[in-house]
Amino acid sequence: MIKQEQMIVVSQQKIATNIFMLTLKGMLVQEMHQPGQFVHVRVANQMEPLLRRPISICSIDSEASEFKMIYRADGRGTALLSEKKAGDYIDVLGPLGQGFPIEKAASGDKALLVGGGIGVPPLYELSKRLVEKGVEPIHVLGFQSENVVFYEELFNQLGETHIVTADGSYGHKGFVTNVLETMTDDFAVYYSCGPTPMLAAMEKMYPHKEGYLSFEQRMGCGIGACFACVCETTEKMDADYLKVCSDGPVFQSGVIRV
Ligand SMILES: Cc1cc2nc3c(=O)[nH]c(=O)nc-3n(C[C@H](O)[C@H](O)[C@H](O)COP(=O)(O)OP(=O)(O)OC[C@H]3O[C@@H](n4cnc5c(N)ncnc54)[C@H](O)[C@@H]3O)c2cc1C
Ligand code: FES
Repeated sequence: MIKQEQMIVVSQQKIATNIFMLTLKGMLVQEMHQPGQFVHVRVANQMEPLLRRPISICSIDSEASEFKMIYRADGRGTALLSEKKAGDYIDVLGPLGQGFPIEKAASGDKALLVGGGIGVPPLYELSKRLVEKGVEPIHVLGFQSENVVFYEELFNQLGETHIVTADGSYGHKGFVTNVLETMTDDFAVYYSCGPTPMLAAMEKMYPHKEGYLSFEQRMGCGIGACFACVCETTEKMDADYLKVCSDGPVFQSGVIRV
């Protein structure tokens, strides 16, 4: 069920250049069941900025009623969010959207998880859940450069992890696709989150594989009422448009025109 709650900040940590990890506590966490969903966050207590910011759920700790999000502070709203400290309250709406379907991978299967930049965080909870059900995840994570790489250790603990940087300052040099080209496609399903060109490249690379892609779109309401986040669909679909906030953000490959 979608809830709105004043959640309390447990901690805020800078984990890479301009990248922050925020841990929030509240009853809303009990509603979080699917990796890949997001929350819509009010970044300030005053009227401005009015619009909430969509941020993915990175990891869920139901027992402690806490969850983490990881975000890049580059615009006005996320910069304000990065100023929040332990003990502050943040107005959160969520969990929102359709996340990654973990039931598409069975115990003993391999699953390929491909992330780019701030598209990496939701893959962490996904990977944890896959490992819990006996699926073997393979992570390929792309970043701009070494100073913005995060969570390598944590992904490593869950399974095979390849880090790629665009400038070659850490790990493999290039794009995630450069690494994928060198790997076998011996996996049952792939899941991906990152910039749209990366998602398009994934579809092109694995046309015959089952894949699930998480899209980003500018949002207004976040709950399917304002149509700010519509995306054009392919001829495969009956509807011409789908809403990223409520029909997505995760869609099966081939559904959204990329
Ligand atoms: C489903 C979803 C999940 C996301 N998860 C994450 C995450 O885990 N970590 C993270 O760092 N970022 C994430 N983003 C992107 C994040 O929402 C934007 O970077 C953020 O809204 C920018 O806000 P700003 O105030 O800093 O920038 P500004 O440029 O000041 O924002 C102005 C307006 O544009 C919107 N906007 C700007 N960039 C984007 C964008 N790329 N996508 C959607 N709306 C945008 C803002 O919501 C706001 O309404 C996600 C976006 C979506 C749609
Ligand atoms: S943001 Fe309003 S319908 Fe999606």
